[in-house]
Amino acid sequence: MSKVTTLGQFIIEKQADFPYAKGELSRLLRDIAIAGKTVNREVNKAGLMDILGKAGSSNIQGEDQQKLDIYANEQFISALTSGGECCIVASEENEDIIRIGSAVAKNAKYIVAIDPLDGSSNIDVNVPVGTIFSIYRKLSPERDADISDVLQSGTAQVAAGYIIYGSSTMLVYTTGNGVNGFTLDPSIGEFCLSHPQMRIPCDGRIYSINEGNYIHFPKGVKQYIKYCQEEDQLSQRPYMSRYIGSMVADIHRNLIKGGIFIYPYTASAPNGKLRLVYECNPMAFIIEQAGGRATNGKDRIMGLQVNELHQRTPVFIGSRNMVMQAEHFLQDAIDLSFNYNENSAFIYSADTH
Ligand code: AHG
Ligand code: MN
Ligand code: MN
Repeated sequence: MSKVTTLGQFIIEKQADFPYAKGELSRLLRDIAIAGKTVNREVNKAGLMDILGKAGSSNIQGEDQQKLDIYANEQFISALTSGGECCIVASEENEDIIRIGSAVAKNAKYIVAIDPLDGSSNIDVNVPVGTIFSIYRKLSPERDADISDVLQSGTAQVAAGYIIYGSSTMLVYTTGNGVNGFTLDPSIGEFCLSHPQMRIPCDGRIYSINEGNYIHFPKGVKQYIKYCQEEDQLSQRPYMSRYIGSMVADIHRNLIKGGIFIYPYTASAPNGKLRLVYECNPMAFIIEQAGGRATNGKDRIMGLQVNELHQRTPVFIGSRNMVMQAEHFLQDAIDLSFNYNENSAFIYSADTH
C-alpha cells in the first residue's frame, strides 16, 4: 500500500521547514480542519435531518440564512475559540468582528476571516457547497487586535484555503508556497494528501458565469462571452460553459481543469456580489499560488484596498491567459462602462449594451 500523508503530518513536516515557527499556524489550520469535518458530517446527512432549508433569518447582506449557514458558522467559531490561536474571527454571517476573549486567545497572533458555508442556497438540492477561509497576522503584538487587523489587503494573507463538500470532501490550502489538496477519507476521518502542488493550467476551455444576468453585464463582459462562444480551431473555441453557483465548486473545477470564473459588476450591483474579505481574497491567493490570475477586471484582487468588512468586488479569476483575455475586452470597452474611482472601486457610468 502506498504511503498516506495526512493533513496533520503534512503540516508538521512543513513546519519543520520554518525553524522559528512555533506551531500556532499549524494548530490554527488543524482547528479549521476539525470544524470542517464536523460540518461535513452534517452536510452529508442533511436530507435525513431537519437541517435543510431556510432558518427564517437573514444575514448582514440581507440574504436568507440557511440552517446549515448558522450551524457551520457556529462550528467554525467554536473550534477557533477553543483552539486559542486566533484573537478575532470575521465571518460573512456576522455583522461585526468576533473578538475571542479567552485568556489564551486574547494574545493570539492570528485573525481568521471565513465564509462558513459558501453556496448555501444549493444545499437543499444536494449540490456541492464549501467553506472559504483566510488567515492574517495581527498587525502589532503590543496592542489588542481590532477591525484594522482584519481590513488588511489580500497580499498580507498568511494562509488561505477552502473545503469543498462535494462527491468527496477536500481541503485545499496555501501558506504562500504552492497549493496542496487533501481528500477526506471517511473511513479514517482524516484529510489525506491527494493533490500535491496543484497548478492551474495557463489556458482553459471552461467559462463560468451566471449567464442569466447577461443583459445586465458590462459591454466588455458580453463581448468576452461572445468570444468564448465563437468557433476557432487554434484556441479550441467554442469553450464550454459550466456554472454550479457555488464559488468553491466552480473554482475548484477550474483549478483542476483550467477555466475562468467571472462575477462581474452590473448597474444594480456596481461592486458585483462576491465579498472581498471572505471569498475573493482567499480564492485569489490560492489561484495565484497555483499559477493563475485574479483581478477585478483591471487590478489585482489581492492589492485592493479593504475599507469595510463586507465589501464586495467584481472578480475575474482562473487560468492566467483567460483572465488576461477577458481584461482586454473590458479595457477596449472602457470608454462606455468601465470606470473606477481612486480606490479601484467601480463607478458605473454609462450604457452597458
Ligand atoms: P454564499 O452562499 O456564501 O452567500 O455565496 C454564494 C455565492 C457564490 O458561492 C456563488 O458563486 C454566487 O453566490 C452565485 O451567485 P448567483 O446566484 O448570483 O449566480
Ligand atoms: Mn460565499
Ligand atoms: Mn456563505
